[in-house]
Amino acid sequence: MDNLLAQVSSYYTEKIERFGAQPLGVDWNGFDGQVLRFAQLCKLLLPGSHFSVTDVGCGYGALLDFLLDNFDAFDYVGIDISEAMVDTATKMREQHSRSKFIVGAEPPHPTDYVVASGIFNVKLGADTDMWRAYIESTLEVMNRFSTRGFAFNCLTGYSDAHKMRADLHYADPCELFDMCKRRYSRNVALLHDYDLYEFTILVRK
Ligand SMILES: C[S@@+](CC[C@H](N)C(=O)[O-])C[C@H]1O[C@@H](n2cnc3c(N)ncnc32)[C@H](O)[C@@H]1O
Repeated sequence: MDNLLAQVSSYYTEKIERFGAQPLGVDWNGFDGQVLRFAQLCKLLLPGSHFSVTDVGCGYGALLDFLLDNFDAFDYVGIDISEAMVDTATKMREQHSRSKFIVGAEPPHPTDYVVASGIFNVKLGADTDMWRAYIESTLEVMNRFSTRGFAFNCLTGYSDAHKMRADLHYADPCELFDMCKRRYSRNVALLHDYDLYEFTILVRK
């Protein structure tokens, strides 16, 4: 698994070094889609009261901007396996005292919420069973480090077959919904209605 994450890290490091702090730099093809994903994930968060949140796979920290635009009081931790991402995010956000960015795949401490946008998509050469096991173990971590809930997105197995790519993982939304419902909480939402070839799952504890 370490080897797999090292390859994923190199893949994203190449993107941020080539394109810089913009959606292409985290392998998204545009700002609108990036923000639409944040809007789904942030349905987990309760506005109006202070919360803490960890952003797993934070990239250059674009979610922090979305949070600043939409929520009043929060503490933010961004973690990423790519050092180049964390360096970029840190340089851009030095003035925001209630945020920090850390290199790694596991949060440094529990927070109210843990969210992840785009970490389950690029599997490179990993086989599907190995990648499914990786998703499962990462959800265990997200559950362990969140006290109020967690949320993540995946490319959907309902994508058009001719558009699917061998280096990407297309998950079964029903399987992951079922897993979250059985393992983590009675309160689970599956959002598959926002026009991208993907879905978001919210787990409220
Ligand atoms: C598609 S990019 C999305 C970045 C950011 N979430 C956004 O939407 O702008 C995925 C990011 O997750 C990081 N990543 C992938 N797997 C990870 C993991 N298991 N733990 C931490 N970071 C990870 C990558 O290095 C990359 O920066």
